[in-house]
This record gives sequence, C-alpha cells and structure tokens, in this order.
Amino acid sequence: MNILTISGSQRAASLNTMLLRALPACAPDGMSFTQLDYSALGLYNQDLEASFPEVATQLKAQIRAADAVIISTPEYNRSIPAPLKNLIDWTSRPYGDSAWAGKPVYVIGATGGAIGTALAQADLRKVLLYLDARVAGQPEVYLSGAMQKFGEDGALTDDATREHLKAALAAFAAFVGK
Ligand code: FNR
Repeated sequence: MNILTISGSQRAASLNTMLLRALPACAPDGMSFTQLDYSALGLYNQDLEASFPEVATQLKAQIRAADAVIISTPEYNRSIPAPLKNLIDWTSRPYGDSAWAGKPVYVIGATGGAIGTALAQADLRKVLLYLDARVAGQPEVYLSGAMQKFGEDGALTDDATREHLKAALAAFAAFVGK
C-alpha cells in the first residue's frame, strides 16, 4: 500500500512533518510512505488554468498514483494553513478533473497547543468530503503538546502516541482495503 504523505507545514522543524516521519515505524507490513513536496507551487489564480502549470499537473499525478493519502495539518487561526488549501485548490482543478475524487484520505495533526488541531481537521475534512475523497473517520489523531513528544533529532519519544499511531495505521489500512 503506497501512501502519499502531505504536511500542512513547510517549515524545517515542523511538528506535523515529524509526526509524518514517525509513521513508517508504526505502520503494518506492506505500507510504504512518500512525502509530497509542493514547495514550488505558486498561489492559485483561476486565470492561470488556461495554461495549467506543470508543477500542479505533477502534483495531481502524484496524488492519483497513491493508494491513499495521509495529511498532517497544523491549525492556523482555527483553520488550515493557506499553503495546504492552495495545494488542494490547485489539485482539484480544472473543474471535473480533481485528483481527490474517490481517494482514501486520513487527516491527522500536531500542535504545541491544547486542542490538538481539532478545528483545523474539521475544516480539512469538510473540504475533502466536498471533493468526494473517502475520508477515514476513526480513530482520530489529535497530537497536542507535541513539542514534548519529539526529541531534538525530531524522532517520536512518546510511547502512548506510538501505540495510538500503530492502532490508527492498522485501522486506516483496513479502511483503504475496503
Ligand atoms: C498558530 N498556532 C496555532 N495553534 C493552534 O493550536 N491553534 C491555532 O489556531 C493556531 N494558530 C496559529 C496561527 C499561525 C499563523 C501560526 C504560525 C501558528 C501554533 C501552531 O500550532 C504551531 O506553530 C505549530 O507548531 C505549527 O505546526 P508545525 O509548523 O510545527 O507543523
């Protein structure tokens, strides 16, 4: 099962990217992970669709080629970060040619804050459901207080989180299998 991971944060020390990097060690056999690099994507403007940018075409191809997608999103001002929405907007276009329709997607998130990206995840699920993605519902993964759960090298140090991720990925594998 070939999983494309997307971090909603592009900063070097991103907690969400650390969470995604912790997944392979918690995954069932046969699950492999590749992280999407969308740093070259410009801001969406509908005028640009007339000559659809190659970078956006390539990103759509990578989403389509994956068996499933896992998105780890930060919460910015109680919603999803603009670069992540920009990625989804580009890859949903042109109208009728979205890369997301039918795609199994798991939404997770990490924050130093207390509510574990709950509101950002709710917004992201709303967007993905509109695009007809198959959004996994359970178990939810809300990683709050995340700065205490990774070491200086970015590796996951929290055993309870590791056990939760193992259960979460086993459930997602079953969801994708259906
Ligand atoms: C934040 N942060 C934040 N945290 C949260 O739990 N709820 C929120 O609404 C916000 N809002 C917010 C807005 C903006 C513009 C920034 C830059 C940050 C804090 C945020 O969770 C924290 O910076 C995370 O570490 C960001 O994720 P990465 O980059 O570590 O993956």
